[in-house]
Amino acid sequence: MSSTPISASASPTQDELKAMVGRAALQFVVPGEIVGVGSGSTVNKFIDALASMKDQIKGAVSSSVASTGRLQALGIAVFDSNDVERLSVYIDGADEIDHQGNMIKGGGAALTREKIVAAQSARFVCIVDESKLVQTLGKYPVPVEVIPMAVQRITRQFAALGGRASLRLKDGEPLVTDNGQFILDVAGLQISQPQAFESEVSQWPGVVTVGVFAFQKAQVCLLAAPSGVKKLLF
Ligand code: 5RP
Repeated sequence: MSSTPISASASPTQDELKAMVGRAALQFVVPGEIVGVGSGSTVNKFIDALASMKDQIKGAVSSSVASTGRLQALGIAVFDSNDVERLSVYIDGADEIDHQGNMIKGGGAALTREKIVAAQSARFVCIVDESKLVQTLGKYPVPVEVIPMAVQRITRQFAALGGRASLRLKDGEPLVTDNGQFILDVAGLQISQPQAFESEVSQWPGVVTVGVFAFQKAQVCLLAAPSGVKKLLF
């Protein structure tokens, strides 16, 4: 892994850090191509910055209904992922990233489509602020998209691993994802072997997607700090 400072700024707010790293990600967008776009508040800053390049790209493949709406509102064409074989780059945020580029994702409930678009992309560029960089994944509860009828059994399976799964709610009701499924947030896990964890949980019946991205890990992390945006390469 190497680390290279890109720029500096004085005492930026959290929102300014997100805007800084969103703008910094433009350097990875390939003119003339379609770019993979993730979801979340940091990616929203990237989408806003991408509007300045909209005449230089063909468009985007999006990982959520929310990002699709934001891209289209800015006049950026959104392609179905089935109509695009390969993307050079996928740009997305994360809830945690370790020093090998493994991530926890799904805080915005878009993990399934995020993993799909990441899988069709040659390079994952993760855009985060420095608070998201960890030694070991698991302080942030792991989001898992599940089929509703399997919620109780999967909750027990996580308990056997020492995890505490809670059903994510919105307005007092189970949150329903873009794919019509539920989210369990699993606290209390220390994920020292991300690939082994992702492999195991992905096989449990009723799991749609586990929010550990070890097989679709980042190759680049742009890390926003008050001193500037650093580039970590994995
Ligand atoms: C959405 C995600 C987001 O990338 C992740 O939650 C980070 O979001 P934010 O940039 O708002 O902190 O995985 O499912």
